[in-house]
Amino acid sequence: MKESKKTVSREIGLEIGHLVGKGLFKLDHLHYGLWKKGLEPEILNLHIAQEEYCKFILSHIPADVKSILDVGCGAGAFSKRLVDLGYKVDCVCPTEYQNKIVEERLGKASEVFKCKFEEVKTDKKYDMVMFCESFQYIDLDCVLDVAGTLVKAGGYMLICDFFKKCAADAYGLKGGHKLEKFMEVMDASAFRIIEDIDLTAETAPNMDIVDRATKEVMIPIFSAGDRFLQSRHPILLKLIKWKYRKKLQKAQDKYLKGKRTGKDFMETKSYRFFLCRKK
Ligand SMILES: C[S@@+](CC[C@H](N)C(=O)[O-])C[C@H]1O[C@@H](n2cnc3c(N)ncnc32)[C@H](O)[C@@H]1O
Repeated sequence: MKESKKTVSREIGLEIGHLVGKGLFKLDHLHYGLWKKGLEPEILNLHIAQEEYCKFILSHIPADVKSILDVGCGAGAFSKRLVDLGYKVDCVCPTEYQNKIVEERLGKASEVFKCKFEEVKTDKKYDMVMFCESFQYIDLDCVLDVAGTLVKAGGYMLICDFFKKCAADAYGLKGGHKLEKFMEVMDASAFRIIEDIDLTAETAPNMDIVDRATKEVMIPIFSAGDRFLQSRHPILLKLIKWKYRKKLQKAQDKYLKGKRTGKDFMETKSYRFFLCRKK
């Protein structure tokens, strides 16, 4: 798939995710939850796990940080929380749908850069640049250079996201920069890691929730739709199935091979919190 098509489907995915999450499950964030021991990994508890994630990030912001650039701010729920806590917050987000919500939420006190992080143009410098599950979407070859120009001397960069430990199965979970490559790029950058926390075990249950929702909700809905079309428009259904046979096969392989669970996540990804300081 060409990069632009990939970007459009990812952005539409995030928009649908936000609408479904907010409309049905009162979720305002687009990040994973942190599943503490004792919290049953099920979708109705996701808002509690997401709140744990927010509390975790807040507790790791250094005391001398006053201004923050929230990169890939999603619908801006966390940015608003930072503003309410007294931080001066600007945001970066390339998605039109999210930007509208963010601007309404944050008002005039915050500047929203409506572009990719790689394209931000400003003379402003921040105490901290923050990437909460947005780091993986940004070009690894330039992300740290751009961050370096936006952070004050002695300032910070916070990254909370997952990385690839090893290649996933063809049907497995995609996404994340290669951890090894990230460490190399980091070594050559203007930053050094001052805190590194492995959150893989606490974030893996999110995958089990998605896997269950796929098997217990999405697939039965598609199968009911299939039966409906078969009874009303059998020829149209045949045509659709033929036209999209490759995509349908790919989707089946992707979601039915059982390669997208918490266990697979633990094996192939490393979910990390990195606090870095500008040298
Ligand atoms: C998984 S969401 C995380 C949203 C938010 N940080 C949160 O924790 O709820 C990823 C975000 O990254 C944004 N994004 C994707 N590519 C980006 C890029 N190149 N530069 C900046 N943001 C990007 C998306 O639009 C989205 O807002």
